[in-house]
Amino acid sequence: MNISIFGSGYVGLVTAACFAEAGNEVICVDIDEARIQKLTEGHCPFYEPGVDDLLKRNVEAGRLRFTTDAKAAIDHGLFIMIAVGTPPDEDGSADLRHVLTVARTIGEHMKEYKVVITKSTVPVGSAEHVRRAVNETLSSRSENIEFDVVSNPEFLKEGSAVEDFMKPDRTIVGVDNPRTGELMRALYAPFNRSRDRVIVMDIASSELTKYAANAMLATKISFMNELSNLADRVGADIEAVRKGIGSDPRIGYKFIYPGAGYGGSCFPKDVSALSKTGEQVGYNMELVDAVNAVNHRQKQVLFDKIKAYFGDLSGKTIAIWGLAFKPNTDDVREAPARDLMEALWGAGAAVRVHDPEAMDTIRACYGEPENLTYCNSPAEATQGADALAILTEWKLYHSPNFEQLAETLTAKVIFDGRNLFDPAVVTRFGLEYHSIGRPVAKPD
Ligand code: UDX
Repeated sequence: MNISIFGSGYVGLVTAACFAEAGNEVICVDIDEARIQKLTEGHCPFYEPGVDDLLKRNVEAGRLRFTTDAKAAIDHGLFIMIAVGTPPDEDGSADLRHVLTVARTIGEHMKEYKVVITKSTVPVGSAEHVRRAVNETLSSRSENIEFDVVSNPEFLKEGSAVEDFMKPDRTIVGVDNPRTGELMRALYAPFNRSRDRVIVMDIASSELTKYAANAMLATKISFMNELSNLADRVGADIEAVRKGIGSDPRIGYKFIYPGAGYGGSCFPKDVSALSKTGEQVGYNMELVDAVNAVNHRQKQVLFDKIKAYFGDLSGKTIAIWGLAFKPNTDDVREAPARDLMEALWGAGAAVRVHDPEAMDTIRACYGEPENLTYCNSPAEATQGADALAILTEWKLYHSPNFEQLAETLTAKVIFDGRNLFDPAVVTRFGLEYHSIGRPVAKPD
């Protein structure tokens, strides 16, 4: 099938590469010429396991092409996917500017029937805006060409996006007529072989499903984070509580890990946008707002523990392991590590940081100020540091050399925002151990 995808960002690129891998002829369009040039040479602009190989293979085979020529792409695809960014407006609602620009471009160039698909996460009602934008441009050309709009939100997780695309839990498709539903089923057939995972529904429900899924997951996390703070105060161990409740299949073990707060490009943005949608229709999303507020507070928890321990932080140096908002990505958008770094700087401390993938993305945000030292290994980050803080649960950090840490860290203390270690093990080496929702563990 011929597919054109607008936007070569995270969603657009993974989607393009995976559709090409399934044998489709895919064109990916972007206005950024330098990016398109790099992609044409087979270089992926971000770190995501598996994408590099898919890009190289499919570009070489000629099934995947990159261009800045929107008209050529619109001529090419029966399916035209919009996967451009929807950054939050100042008030938290999703900004549809880029999506609607693409819609107008489609209206400007289309010569025959097209299926126009919104892949970007867009608020309820957006597909209608897209339809209107395409229609308006068509009428300004005095054309009356038929097209359909579809809502087809993505559910990719950073770090396992290719796997998620190839073996989806579900593919949500929002349409307003059965024929388009059948076309979309055919498009996703290669990823839908073992059992039917395509769920076809109306457009508004499909748009809402995406926000509902992310907000539900964010709610689980904020709930656990709130409980972890209570556990801290009543002397309970949140890890025991987590296992205790996770064993109930109605609750389950997934997404109930307490931590330093959720980050990334989706949860924070989508939770705010959902609240905004409620506001726009005069309905107060109280739970969703609380999820957001709890997360903001949670991002300060590790700093509060460090501050309470040291009192005065000026002149102190804290080693930070993990900058990415989660493992297997170089993404630092809304990453809790950034809140911690900024709070530490505000209190006069310096940081020495390590991350297996996200050093360059952090460098792009902060440059190289005096109070930020980039280190090549976890051990190097702890050299000359008073304490260690852990913010991302990269596998690399799961079994550190505690003996060496006890020798290196001047204050012999670890602040773990991911509950990676058994407190009994850490303290055996003479280290004090602060984690999330568990009693402080001190050496005998
Ligand atoms: C999320 C959704 O999972 C995905 O379906 C959607 O398409 C995009 O948003 P992603 O942002 O890549 O994916 O990351 P995810 O693995 O969901 O983690 C989000 C954040 O929650 C991370 O900061 C993570 O550390 C945190 N988290 C996750 C917890 O704090 N506790 C948990 O139990 C799970």
